[in-house]
Amino acid sequence: MSILTKQTSPFDDQKPGTSGLRKRVAVFQQPNYAENFLQSIFDSIGDASGKTLVIGGDGRFYNDVVIQKAIRMAAANGFGRVIVGQNGLLSTPSASHLIRHNQAFGGLVLSASHNPGGPDGDFGIKYNVGNGGPAPENITNAIFARSKVIDHFRTIDAPDVALGAIGQQKSGDMVVEIVDPVADYAALMKTLFDFDAISKLFASGFRMTFDAMHAVTGPYAHAIIEDMLGAPKGTVINGVPLPDFGKGHPDPNLVYCKDMFDQLMSADGPDFGAASDGDGDRNLIIGKNRFVTPSDSLAILAANAALAPGYAAGIKGIARSMPTSAAADRVADKLGIEMHETPTGWKFFGNLLDAGRVTICGEESAGTGSDHVREKDGLWAILLWLNVIAAREQSVDQIVRDHWATYGRNYYTRHDYEEVDAAIANTLVDDLRAKLPGLAGQNFDDLQIAFADDFAYHDPIDGSTSAKQGIRIGFTDGSRIVLRLSGTGTVGATLRLYLERYEAADGRHDLETQTALAELIDLAERLCGVRERTGRQKPSVIT
Ligand code: G6P
Ligand code: ZN
Repeated sequence: MSILTKQTSPFDDQKPGTSGLRKRVAVFQQPNYAENFLQSIFDSIGDASGKTLVIGGDGRFYNDVVIQKAIRMAAANGFGRVIVGQNGLLSTPSASHLIRHNQAFGGLVLSASHNPGGPDGDFGIKYNVGNGGPAPENITNAIFARSKVIDHFRTIDAPDVALGAIGQQKSGDMVVEIVDPVADYAALMKTLFDFDAISKLFASGFRMTFDAMHAVTGPYAHAIIEDMLGAPKGTVINGVPLPDFGKGHPDPNLVYCKDMFDQLMSADGPDFGAASDGDGDRNLIIGKNRFVTPSDSLAILAANAALAPGYAAGIKGIARSMPTSAAADRVADKLGIEMHETPTGWKFFGNLLDAGRVTICGEESAGTGSDHVREKDGLWAILLWLNVIAAREQSVDQIVRDHWATYGRNYYTRHDYEEVDAAIANTLVDDLRAKLPGLAGQNFDDLQIAFADDFAYHDPIDGSTSAKQGIRIGFTDGSRIVLRLSGTGTVGATLRLYLERYEAADGRHDLETQTALAELIDLAERLCGVRERTGRQKPSVIT
């Protein structure tokens, strides 16, 4: 195998964000752009000679091109074996599982998650480490530092591998194993959930729609929900992965899954609706006449996890990202288990999961997961919901209402202002940060500010500190306003405003969310001035 060393010059914009490097496809198509980033990864992860690397992506446009580049470069950088999903497909959670299952050195996940795909859409590259989770910040910082000075990359002169052919091939001296993307993952799910009980639920006439959004979960959902669990054919919709996601936006929220939502709100619709995103790590849960917010879903799944065989012994602890509502905190409190508040980004859960401190984690951004992998996992969340529904013999709506009647309800909404001028957004956050020290104790109508800070996380396992993770304004009644800049956007800045109000177990649980939060929404505008400063009349997206 002759290794080719190619000259290159650095790009200055290869800083990994919340979840890897995400850019427009056209940016990745610049000569050497992907190669520079891949080599920066290989230069930053230590000696990989003879080791195994997992490679897969969500099937979006340019996936196949970068996979071939990555395979040749992995061979040139000394890997002994790569495991690649057939046709280049691997959902993010299944990539995480394959890394763990095969004790691989790490993995490359090619995805821009829920961002649109196609030639005008986005692409992304993320490196995951040996525990199956996204690389921690010390590695992503090293990758960025390397990308700024890189002057060559290594590859080999070898033909493309046949991505469709399951089995072993070679690229140079390196073994390339093309695997069924679904098989090992489905086997793992079977160990966690009561497949018999869920099958009986479907056999009894329970109807579900799963929207795969023409993204990666189609093959997984067909195999698990229809073939293994016996849901009728047609339960899975948009189940064929397409490079441009059928021109859709593969983000499972109420805007992009509106048709399914409308069906669930109608009398003759299905009993349960669910969806996952481009790379299969997010989830959307809707029951008949009941949308479940991701924050509530985390709390409810944690409270009921022991109904599933994989968690029958109970859960050790819960972690949630800072902007996620405190609904789960009440569950942890009642169960007498640890609760952790981490910055946005799944990578912050890795240490807690590895150390056995927490079992279930979740984020308001539609991510829920457990210690079975080191990524959030859309299908896992959906299967756990099915398991809970089957075990409790209750509808989603009943389960949610019971939960609120036990723990109280955290009314919750997120207002996004997308593609805002970055300078305006940064100044807004800076100005608010400067105001924080004087806010505690101030009264606004019947609300009193209890604390106001810029969230800093101290990782209890490795002792590291991550500062400036978003502004929190907490009130004495448990309400919260959180403001932060998104770390996943590709154009301008996205401001996210998160609003939360607690209503006790015996309080009113049936208010419309925006109405329940109206006072807090007004106060947030007075304190932060998002609408005034950006000139926007209303948020681009409300979740
Ligand atoms: C990705 C990450 C999540 C994160 C989400 C939102 O999906 O995997 O961990 O919560 O992005 O991040 P953002 O910075 O855009 O709010
Ligand atoms: Zn995703």
